Amino acid sequence: LTLAGCGRETGSAQLRPPSGPIVLGFSQVGSESGWRLANTASIKKAAERNRVELLFKNAEGDQKRQLADIRSFIRADVTAIAFSPVVETGYDEVLREARAAKIPVILTDRLIETADTSLYVSSIGAEFAAEGNLAAIYLENDYNDTEEQVHVVEILGSTGATPTKLRAEGFATTASRSGKLRIVAAETGNWTVDGGETAMRRLIRKVKRIDAVFAQNDDMGLGAVKALEAAGKKPGTDVRLVTVDATKKGLESLVAGKLNYVVECSPLIGEQLMGVVVAIHLGGRIDKRISPEQNVFDAVSAKDVLGDRQY
Ligand code: AHR
Repeated sequence: LTLAGCGRETGSAQLRPPSGPIVLGFSQVGSESGWRLANTASIKKAAERNRVELLFKNAEGDQKRQLADIRSFIRADVTAIAFSPVVETGYDEVLREARAAKIPVILTDRLIETADTSLYVSSIGAEFAAEGNLAAIYLENDYNDTEEQVHVVEILGSTGATPTKLRAEGFATTASRSGKLRIVAAETGNWTVDGGETAMRRLIRKVKRIDAVFAQNDDMGLGAVKALEAAGKKPGTDVRLVTVDATKKGLESLVAGKLNYVVECSPLIGEQLMGVVVAIHLGGRIDKRISPEQNVFDAVSAKDVLGDRQY
């Protein structure tokens, strides 16, 4: 792959000799969930292991802060910049500044909306739409024996972020194919346990019949469990729950029968990121898209992996 527009090529040509320290400026989106903390830990650990000097900044969900952080990396003339975007839009200008400074950019976890995909050299992250597809398929299979439509409420992540958009789209596309699942309402839970609890409380007040919940991450699903219990319902039995992430806490709730299915989205992408950063430094090959493996768990398969779960 050519580092198009960055003035550097990987493969045969190298514009920066592979000497001196490799410095990565990484802008994390926030600390909103168990998944995010594991993602940060994975990146820090992999940087250390690969001897990459890491300049780490956390935008705490604020895009303006993230843009300022990226600009600080440009001023520091790092080897590469990586970031997990808060929202999908509004990054073109800063990425053009990085390109003018000949600093390659890598997207991690989430994506951006741009007409010029040469503004980043690689994106590393899960296939969010497929996660939504899988969540809907598992829920549909659960209700195989019933003729009736299943009334589903959705608890969404932060507005404008790629996983929020694509998980919802994937779920809705699969649901509309068979017509078995009917999405009756949605509320935003901002990826947090508290946000999920508040969203579920609102949904319980607003919607008469709730058969199932699709929470876009484990933390919000765990919040929904609390709200359902407070309302006198038995989560996992009276109301079925499907979530995404597969954190240790999510899998424990699955084994305990409070969640029914969990679609995996691995936060452990630190090594893949360092692989790209080192390739930039040495002039190696870079894949434009890198995705980690993904699984789906029920109570039985969750039990098998819980012992080794790192996050
Ligand atoms: O972008 C990945 C999502 O962000 C995770 O599913 C969620 O837990 C996180 O906060």
